[in-house]
Amino acid sequence: MTTTGGTTAGATSRSVSEIMSHPVVTATGDETIATVAARMRSQRVGSVVVVEGDHAIGILTERDLVRIAASMTSSETVAEWMTADPDSVSPDVDATSAFASLAEHGYRHIPVVDDGRVVGVVSMRDLMRIAQIQPADNLAHDVPRGLEGVVVAETSIGDVRGLEGFYHYRQYDAVELAETRSLEDVWYLLYEGALPDPAERRQFADEVRPLRGIPDVVRSVLPAIASAAEDAPPLDLLRTTVSLLGASLGFQPSLDLAATELRAQALQVCAAVPTLLCALHRLQHGLPVIDPHPELGYAANYLYMMQGNVPDPELARGVEQYLISTIDHGFNSSTFTARVITSTGADLAAAVVGAIGALSGPLHGGAPSRALDMLDAIGTSENADAWLRDTVERGDRLMGFGHRVYKTDDPRSVMLRSVAERLQAPKVEFAKHVEERATAILAELKPGRKLYANVEFYAGVVMDACGVPREMFTPTFASSRVIGWTAHVLEQAADNRLIRPSAHYVGPPPPQPVPQAE
Ligand SMILES: CC(C)(COP(=O)(O)OP(=O)(O)OC[C@H]1O[C@@H](n2cnc3c(N)ncnc32)[C@H](O)[C@@H]1OP(=O)(O)O)[C@@H](O)C(=O)NCCC(=O)NCCS
Repeated sequence: MTTTGGTTAGATSRSVSEIMSHPVVTATGDETIATVAARMRSQRVGSVVVVEGDHAIGILTERDLVRIAASMTSSETVAEWMTADPDSVSPDVDATSAFASLAEHGYRHIPVVDDGRVVGVVSMRDLMRIAQIQPADNLAHDVPRGLEGVVVAETSIGDVRGLEGFYHYRQYDAVELAETRSLEDVWYLLYEGALPDPAERRQFADEVRPLRGIPDVVRSVLPAIASAAEDAPPLDLLRTTVSLLGASLGFQPSLDLAATELRAQALQVCAAVPTLLCALHRLQHGLPVIDPHPELGYAANYLYMMQGNVPDPELARGVEQYLISTIDHGFNSSTFTARVITSTGADLAAAVVGAIGALSGPLHGGAPSRALDMLDAIGTSENADAWLRDTVERGDRLMGFGHRVYKTDDPRSVMLRSVAERLQAPKVEFAKHVEERATAILAELKPGRKLYANVEFYAGVVMDACGVPREMFTPTFASSRVIGWTAHVLEQAADNRLIRPSAHYVGPPPPQPVPQAE
């Protein structure tokens, strides 16, 4: 272990002892990772110092927890994963010189040791900020990782109220809209700010339905795209074809367009996305492409283009309710992505392609089929308790449970459960049993975490009942969310300011001479 001495703090500079955290959160080497990870979370610290008596023998950080999670191993002790014999810093050292010597090693957290005894812990971030190593104009605001809870824009499109289990589009309860309105009505609401009257509804349908066709130049290359990547997720192919669609239609930078022109492009892309998805899906399965049906509403046409026959209206309505419930949901990652891209003045297709990329990630929209896979893995109601308990005790997650924002029932899950019941979905009774047991077991094994079924849990049950194949679950989600993304694009473009935040530099202190290339 090396203890950094360096310059002792003078009258004007601040010493490590003034900025360190203490009492220090500690662990012993024989404790389990799970116990210590829970302690770090509850104490809101990024590291624990591993001690034997008063002496630091190691340090375990958030980074180590990420490595442990990635290794997919379980039941280790702290001693197996900690950095043993860590470097430390003396409490009387001034912050600037502590930073300069320790940043070189890339450490983020360092125990503060006085006469062999651990007296605190200091993070590089604190040191750097206090030492004022960054120019003052870079020190604007420190925000939580992942921007959780940070307000970065104003919007009139909608909002999510996690504690109340409520979300809305414009001024209306989204669930009520899904229960009472068509998707086109809600699309109109998002774009225009008000629900349509009958004349506006007809006019909107007349405007949108002809846009469902794919321009010939794009259509002609779809077979080649589908066969070049026949096992690729349909969303990956959608990304490519939306880019081509925008380029072939000559989309201009949003910065150069009038609001009416940008709106027309938004309608065009939203109308074409379901057609592109169904065409790509069918081509990937060696089936002929089916043209849009001019008489069918949005969801019925979607199923028609996917399955090849006019669907049962009840099933089409089930899918439509799912689509309405997923059009928009606060400032989620893909929506934020679309707004960032639009803020640069880039064209609308670029914003949608970026948003599709963000949605494809498993932490965002990439996992709705996993809940259904879990039901398959459980198999029978008799198996449910043991399977669920084993999974949670092993430290694994129950798919379709928990939510970053909702700490009560997810209103989308409640609505989709009732849709699944109404459709008498084949898996609904089993799913309800699993939901009830999972909620009880999570409450027992993860007390206080407030884990309930989320939108994914019954979405799979509903889409399965409506004949949507699993690989089309996330694409179906994208086909409605594109309406939300483009509503945000229009809002951003109407009152634009480049979104360009800052980052704290935490690497070794500059400037270093550039080494000669070998
Ligand atoms: C959605 C999700 C990522 C939100 O996570 P989050 O808000 O970041 O919550 P955290 O990861 O901080 O978890 C908080 C605690 O609840 C537990 N938890 C959260 N979701 C859980 C789940 N589905 N099953 C079991 N435990 C869960 C965590 O293990 C953690 O427990 P701990 O305090 O003992 O460490 C998370 O609930 C999850 O992974 N769910 C399963 C996947 C899923 O359904 N995804 C679709 C989302 S719409």
